[in-house]
Amino acid sequence: MDLTNVKGVGPEKSRKLMSAGYGTVESIAFSSPRDISMDTGIPEDTVRAIITAAKMIVRSKESTKGGKLVEILSGKDAKKILGSMDHITTGLKGLDQILGGGIETCAVSEFYGPAKAGKTQICHQLCVTVQLPKEAGGLEAPALYIDTERTMKYEHIKSVAERFGLDPDMASDNVFYAYAMNSEALYETVHKSLDEVVQNRGIKLVVVDCLTGHFRAEYCGRESLPTRQQKLNRIIHDLLRIAVSQDLAVVVTNQVHSQPDLYGKSENPIGGHTVAHGVTFRLGLSTRKHNMRIVTVVDAPALPPDEAYFAITTRGLIDITAKDLSSKAPIGFSEAEEEEEKEVKKMEEAETIIE
Ligand SMILES: Nc1ncnc2c1ncn2[C@@H]1O[C@H](COP(=O)(O)OP(=O)(O)OP(=O)(O)O)[C@@H](O)[C@H]1O
Ligand SMILES: [Mg+2]
Repeated sequence: MDLTNVKGVGPEKSRKLMSAGYGTVESIAFSSPRDISMDTGIPEDTVRAIITAAKMIVRSKESTKGGKLVEILSGKDAKKILGSMDHITTGLKGLDQILGGGIETCAVSEFYGPAKAGKTQICHQLCVTVQLPKEAGGLEAPALYIDTERTMKYEHIKSVAERFGLDPDMASDNVFYAYAMNSEALYETVHKSLDEVVQNRGIKLVVVDCLTGHFRAEYCGRESLPTRQQKLNRIIHDLLRIAVSQDLAVVVTNQVHSQPDLYGKSENPIGGHTVAHGVTFRLGLSTRKHNMRIVTVVDAPALPPDEAYFAITTRGLIDITAKDLSSKAPIGFSEAEEEEEKEVKKMEEAETIIE
């Protein structure tokens, strides 16, 4: 929607708002007057009136659930809206179950864990499962992958898509991509471009892999801690605002640091209180033998701490049981499934030859 449709916004203010990253009516309705005023130079009182007008437009839209949260609701309405958030299946029955149905929209979910714990693998799988039909647990919508480590692999998206019965090329085309080479680029992408892109493309999953890596590398020493936390805070705040206002799910990954304690050492997610308070769901990953992993719901608004088990395979993550964790060999697809995959490949090759 053209911003000049918002009462009080003419072409000049529209230009200022757009270039500061407020390209949608929702981004204005859900931001604070102080933030918008600081970013655009428009006086705070004027911004207040613009926000009020933007809220009226958002409120009148039928489609968004999160959009309803711009006003004070009766308990009855609030219950209905808060209880109706969508979920994206993780493709893992165990994890979906402990998450109350999968990754929730209008929220920021964090997966943290040591190197090779499977954070990037989970992000790849979600970029596929969000595209599944609603009856299969998806939202029939594209994803955006914000990559800070250059570890995103379209080939892997294709393999996972094949396993879930999606067309691999179409599924990989539906994963939008942004490389953020440093913390400033990540901030700019989230703060300035994200809102408009997700709205224009109908994106329902935004992945940030990894949220904290650049900050850890760029801001060393105690003296830079306040600046680092402030920037990180702003990114998380923007991500949550976009998740709520655009009815989408945000998934971020986070690294850990080791801390010696009485019992040896423990691994804690980095980012301190800023990340801990900022994200809605916290999930910890830990490695076990071979390709086996444990995922734990550490913090969730209304879910008890619980854990589930999975294995990493070429075709994505698969459920395993607690008993499987002691398996002497890596767990993979059954022989029957591997055979089935070979058959499909043979048929595809035969079709290509006929063409
Ligand atoms: N096809 C596969 N079968 C089994 N294991 C695999 C397969 N592909 C990757 N892995 C394993 O997955 C792990 C990498 O997982 P991933 O890249 O998701 O880790 P991460 O948590 O993102 O780590 P980092 O912090 O380094 O980014 C590696 O241990 C790798 O051996
Ligand atoms: Mg990774």
